[in-house]
Amino acid sequence: MHVLVNKTQPFFDQKPGTSGLRKKVKVFQQPHYLENFVQSIFDSVDIPDGATLTLGGDGRFYNRVAIQTIIKMAAANGFARVLVGQSGILSTPAASHIIRKYKTLGGIILSASHNPAGPNEDFGIKYNTANGGPAPEKITEAIFARSKTISQYNISSLADVDIDTIGEISFDGFAVQVINPVTDYADLMAQLFDFNAIKTLFKSSFSMKFDAMHAVTGPYAKEVFINRLGASENCLMNCEVSETFGGGHPDPNLTYAHELVEELYKANAPDFGAASDGDGDRNMILGKKFFVTPSDSLAIIAANANLIPAYGLGLAGVARSMPTSGAVDRVAKKLNIPCYETPTGWKFFGNLMDANKVTLCGEESFGTGSNHVREKDGLWAVLCWLNIIAAKQMSVEAIVKAHWAEYGRNVYSRHDYEAIPTEAANGVMAHIKAQFGTLPNQVLGKYTVSTCDDFSYTDPIDGSVSTGQGIRILFTCGSRIVFRLSGTGTEGATLRIYLEAFEPNIAHHHLDAQVALREMIQIALEISELKQRTGREKPTVIT
Ligand code: G1P
Ligand code: ZN
Repeated sequence: MHVLVNKTQPFFDQKPGTSGLRKKVKVFQQPHYLENFVQSIFDSVDIPDGATLTLGGDGRFYNRVAIQTIIKMAAANGFARVLVGQSGILSTPAASHIIRKYKTLGGIILSASHNPAGPNEDFGIKYNTANGGPAPEKITEAIFARSKTISQYNISSLADVDIDTIGEISFDGFAVQVINPVTDYADLMAQLFDFNAIKTLFKSSFSMKFDAMHAVTGPYAKEVFINRLGASENCLMNCEVSETFGGGHPDPNLTYAHELVEELYKANAPDFGAASDGDGDRNMILGKKFFVTPSDSLAIIAANANLIPAYGLGLAGVARSMPTSGAVDRVAKKLNIPCYETPTGWKFFGNLMDANKVTLCGEESFGTGSNHVREKDGLWAVLCWLNIIAAKQMSVEAIVKAHWAEYGRNVYSRHDYEAIPTEAANGVMAHIKAQFGTLPNQVLGKYTVSTCDDFSYTDPIDGSVSTGQGIRILFTCGSRIVFRLSGTGTEGATLRIYLEAFEPNIAHHHLDAQVALREMIQIALEISELKQRTGREKPTVIT
């Protein structure tokens, strides 16, 4: 096997996070750029004899090119085998499952999640470890450090491999196995859920629309909903993977999934609607003319987990990111199980799941998951809802309202102010912190402040401490306002305001969260002096 040595130069200006390195396709197309990063990954992990690498992506533009390069580099770097999804396809949760099921050393996932795809849009690459989860900070830091000093990379002179035909291609001491990207994942779902009950549901008058938003979940949805659960083809929207994601922005929320939203809000709307994002890890759940907030979705799945075969024996615990509403906390209390409040980002859940401390977890940003993989999982969340609907024989709206009647409602909304000058954003945060001494006990409208802090978290498993994770203003009634600067924005700063009003009595609040939260929004703007300091009259995005 021929190994070429190329001089490369480090051109990474930023540390790859746990979501990996995301850049414009044009950046990745620079000579040696992708190779430099891949070699930095391979140099940062021990590759034992016989090691296997899982490889696949969300099908976006440049996926195929990158896959051929990575196969050649895996061969030259001592891997014995690469498991690659057919046509280069693996959703993020499916890749996590493949790594775990076939005990591969790790996996490379090619995705920029919901970011638009195409020659002028985004591409991304990340490494997941043997537990199926995103590489921990220790490894991403090592990759970054290595990328600055690297001077050569190893690549074999193998010809391009046919990744469209299932089967094994063997070379001297190296093999590429092209696998069906959906079979293993669909098998796992069939083990977790009551497929017979869901089949019966689809045979009834129940109707659904699932929107893959032209991205990776299309083939998964066809196999699971149509082939295995007997739903009719017209349940599916935008289920052909396109290299440009149909020119869209596959972010499953009320703004970007408007095509689905229109379906669910028209006359004779289907009973159930759901969408997933570019790489299949996020989800949005809708009922007939009804939106389920991700925080409520997590709480409702936890409260009804006993109806799902995989969780019938009970939950070890649950976890939510700090800005996610406290709805799930109320469920955990009733179930008498622990509830962990972690900083934003999926990586904090991994340690808890590996230690068997939590079974379900979720974030307000449309991510929900369980210990079946180590990534959030969009289709899994959709199946949770279908299983619960099949068991309860109730509509989405009725399930949510019954939940609120039992537990109270954590009325919730997130207001994002995007691309504000970094200085102004820092000024807002500093101004709020300066009031930490005076805010407690203040009466603001119908709310009384109890405490405020800047959230920090000590990982109960490895003891690591994460500070500065967002400002919490807590009120005596269980309501709160959280201010946080995004860690993923690309232009200036993104300030997120998370508004949550706890309403014990369902009869006392407006269904529309923006109306129900009017007073709280006002309080948040006053405490932060946001308008004065940023000149912004209204949020960029409301979810
Ligand atoms: C955003 C979401 C967060 C999620 C992250 C990665 O991060 O808010 O929940 O884990 O993307 O998908 P943020 O921009 O808020 O730092
Ligand atoms: Zn995603």
